[in-house]
Amino acid sequence: MQTKECIDSILIKYGQEHLVQYWDVLSEEERSVLVRQIEGVNWSFLDSLRHPSGEETGTISPIDAMTILQIAEKKDFYMEVGLQAIREGKLAALLLAGGQGSRLGYDHPKGTFNIGITRDLYIFQLLMEHTMDIVKLADAWIPFYIMTSDINHDETVAFFEKHAYFGYNPDYVHFFVQEMNPATDFDGKVFMNSKYTLSQSPNGNGGWFTSLSKSGLLEGVLSAGIEWINIFSVDNVLQRIADPVFLGATIANGRMCGAKVVVKTEPTERVGAICLRDKKPHIVEYYEMSQEMMYQKNEDGLLAYGYGVTLNYVFPVQRLKETLGNEMPLHIVKKKIPYMNEQGDYVTPDEPNGYKYETLALDLIHEMDSCLVYEVPREYEFAPVKNKEGADSIDTARALLKQNGYSL
Ligand code: UTP
Repeated sequence: MQTKECIDSILIKYGQEHLVQYWDVLSEEERSVLVRQIEGVNWSFLDSLRHPSGEETGTISPIDAMTILQIAEKKDFYMEVGLQAIREGKLAALLLAGGQGSRLGYDHPKGTFNIGITRDLYIFQLLMEHTMDIVKLADAWIPFYIMTSDINHDETVAFFEKHAYFGYNPDYVHFFVQEMNPATDFDGKVFMNSKYTLSQSPNGNGGWFTSLSKSGLLEGVLSAGIEWINIFSVDNVLQRIADPVFLGATIANGRMCGAKVVVKTEPTERVGAICLRDKKPHIVEYYEMSQEMMYQKNEDGLLAYGYGVTLNYVFPVQRLKETLGNEMPLHIVKKKIPYMNEQGDYVTPDEPNGYKYETLALDLIHEMDSCLVYEVPREYEFAPVKNKEGADSIDTARALLKQNGYSL
């Protein structure tokens, strides 16, 4: 028999008494689900409401990038270094696919979206095909990890199986599931999904290494001698995955990690800006950037923080291992969160109605001593599918794919 007393102290401490408002009408089984959920939450996530991660401390300054021209000058050399590492099995690719893609308003894993017009061309298919290009070039399979979340795991795995992994060798594909955090309204009250379940959502893309470790897959990474992991988002349909030139440039220049960036189109473009904080590489998300930082110019009249990250990084496994257990900052993100209202109806809002609490992969950059800021031409490598329409939408991504010779 579950007693309410075991959770009362938590609920009172964090102002969440509303979560047990239906206690009297719940069955024993429902009560134990509710208790388990409440006890399973790390409630300190609510502290981030009082101390938002965007409140930057430390001294922020611009960081140098390796420009497209500088990369071109040494492309053949970097390519050889990168291909060699890939042939020696030192690189794995890791797709971050646990997000909900709420801005796109597509009620399935984003990677299953069909971006083709006259033929089927799924986002997952494009990503696997991009990786296959390098597999062929290196003549070596690249271990491919896919992070999902409770809300999309089964559908994602089934999709890959149905499509025979789009020609990739399934022995090299590994799925793992990330963790969840409750979502709240703007006052920090956790939403309910039903009378006995909390509204939970994926806890951001920053926990990928911890989740990889908890899944048991990290042991395989280490025993296989993988030294580098290229992480990337599901939604950039033009990105180069396991790019040997990028990897080679990071290794050859002795940098601890690498970040692919584009020159921002305008100060307000919705991409994280790479910089230094207290002389260490650092990224500030667009929704946390001050106006001053956004518009600041350098002596050449260019934006001082004009390189936007594309969510494509190479990280060293050994250093990541050392960071395991370090607390990562939680970012508060305004989102549309489905919930059960006071009348007991399940509501899917049209506008953001609350906060999700997310760790971000970009914060791992600050754990590194140095970073190669690697500029890529945006018209060839940056076509994110974020929104239903307008900027970074299905239409803009289709136009860029066509411009790059894809038949849709
Ligand atoms: P976004 O920041 O675009 O978030 O994710 P999202 O949840 O997918 O989309 P919106 O904001 O609700 O529209 C960038 C990348 O990080 C992954 C996404 O799948 C995408 O590849 N991600 C995001 C995760 O893997 N887990 C998360 O919890 C959040």
